[in-house]
Amino acid sequence: MAEVTGAGNEATRAWFHEAKLGLFIHWGIYALLGKGEWIRTVDQIPLEEYAKLHPQWRPTSFEAGAWAELAAAAGVQYMVVTTKHHDGWCLFDAPNTTWKSTASPDGRDLIGELVTAFEAQQIPVGFYYSIMDWHHPDYLPRLSWEEPTRSAAGADPQRYVAYMREQLRHLLTAYRPAPFVIWYDGGWMNKPEELSGVETNAELRRLKPDILINDRHFTKEDLVTPEQRIPPTGLFDEQGEPLLWEACLTMTSHWWGYDAHETVYKTPQFLIRTLVDIVSKGGNLLLNIGPQADGTIQEEFVERLQAIGDWLNRYAEAIYGTTASPFNQLPFYGRVTVKGERLYVHVFEWPGDRLLRLPGLANQVHGAQLLDSGAPVGVRRDGDDWLVVLPEAAPDTAASVLAVDLDGPPQVTPWVLRPNRRGVVELPVVVGQLDGPHGMKVRYETCDGELHAGNWLNPKDSVEWTFEVPAAGEYEVWINHRVEPGQGGSTIALILNGQETLLLAPNGLAFGTGGTQASGEALRAAGQTRSTGGRFCRRRVARLTLPAGRNVLKVLLPTIRRQRGWDLRGVLLRPRRGEAVT
Ligand code: GLC
Repeated sequence: MAEVTGAGNEATRAWFHEAKLGLFIHWGIYALLGKGEWIRTVDQIPLEEYAKLHPQWRPTSFEAGAWAELAAAAGVQYMVVTTKHHDGWCLFDAPNTTWKSTASPDGRDLIGELVTAFEAQQIPVGFYYSIMDWHHPDYLPRLSWEEPTRSAAGADPQRYVAYMREQLRHLLTAYRPAPFVIWYDGGWMNKPEELSGVETNAELRRLKPDILINDRHFTKEDLVTPEQRIPPTGLFDEQGEPLLWEACLTMTSHWWGYDAHETVYKTPQFLIRTLVDIVSKGGNLLLNIGPQADGTIQEEFVERLQAIGDWLNRYAEAIYGTTASPFNQLPFYGRVTVKGERLYVHVFEWPGDRLLRLPGLANQVHGAQLLDSGAPVGVRRDGDDWLVVLPEAAPDTAASVLAVDLDGPPQVTPWVLRPNRRGVVELPVVVGQLDGPHGMKVRYETCDGELHAGNWLNPKDSVEWTFEVPAAGEYEVWINHRVEPGQGGSTIALILNGQETLLLAPNGLAFGTGGTQASGEALRAAGQTRSTGGRFCRRRVARLTLPAGRNVLKVLLPTIRRQRGWDLRGVLLRPRRGEAVT
């Protein structure tokens, strides 16, 4: 693995960390088909057939200046564009192929036009570059569906490496100061050494020492790029030092490139909260649009970018140049960012009692105010915490921001979840961590002013809580959830302390038969959801034994029977009679 060289790109790294929001643009010849950027493979379109698209590429409505203005109004601080996606088609004047925009009828170097326009708006540009190439004869492996018709005989991967390097050299030298990042993708088909990524990247760094390189050539470089998911606590290296990371997300439900059939777009409120969430964890958001082949950006993208820009106009100070939250947990639905001695408290849901608890904040609080109007809000100490007394109404439906001024950099004692006075461990989703792999779907939603984890469409998504109990003891597990009529039948799994031991709770009610408590340490309960008539209700689902000290409980739906698995408000662990833990 290559070492992070660092030398020469510190300033880029520092700027990037402060930038927080980037615009991702997936634009390529696939857009002519309007079915996403993978269409050549999804529809198994033969090479010669796909090549017929070439003369049809006429981006007559494309105005780079208008795209850049839209990006500037959205408050994005950088842009990353696909110079070549998996279909191998280049949006720039590649010196070594005719499979490129400059060889199509209009002959336009679209990357050049974009760089000029975005840099005129002071938005640095980075280049996405696909390692996987479904066009170049020397790129291996062939996709399995193509193997019978596209022979791999005579293909020489080293020739392909030379081809990539020549293109990358061109991209690094023809558009200066762009690119600030080489954003690889599609390296997963190859072993890292097969395509000599280490050597290629060393050459890129020699050519442009201030460049950032992402992690998708499977070498360790500057930038870690989780895709369609937000790491629940940010990302750190082996020494616990924060990594430079950027979550890339679509506004759509699936494809990155233009999809004429898309109907599900993330709401502006969701996207704004997502930005805040990512920034509170120390990362950046790279938010994607997939324009049409003629250069039109769909209204759905425009509206969302404008909404983000409007929000950022009011709250820029609470996003750009901030650092991650010092709190490991917050008891309300919101997030915190920091600049020096100031906390920015982003409140997503205004609490009914209008009290906001900042747990374990040791500092003196000098004062607090609503960030947009400057109206002061009350604060008072409550034990180890501070309470902020909110005004009647939330100033913003997506996220209202308070500025809380401290007597120094924030000093926070990590909050540990413990049983309440009655010995009950209360685990509402607000203090849980939502997580999932690529394509994570679970998210926070509200109903009657209460928060739940909803949108359970991905069987690997989960909610996880870490808590402590002072002594070992037996507990009944209650879930507070709702299942719509006719939507039952999904499996619920509870995983305690990472290990899977079987405990059956058929139909989500009865306790397990035999072997319910294998080790006392690890327990897995599996049951099935049943309709609750669409109302939230509590149901006892299992029994488990907690060891003394720290425990981690995870809930997931490993098989989702219906479109909507369930909505989960939280879990309660009640001590069994006679074994109350105090
Ligand atoms: C995936 C997809 C690709 C998209 C990329 C964005 O790797 O293959 O289509 O460009 O994600 O991160």
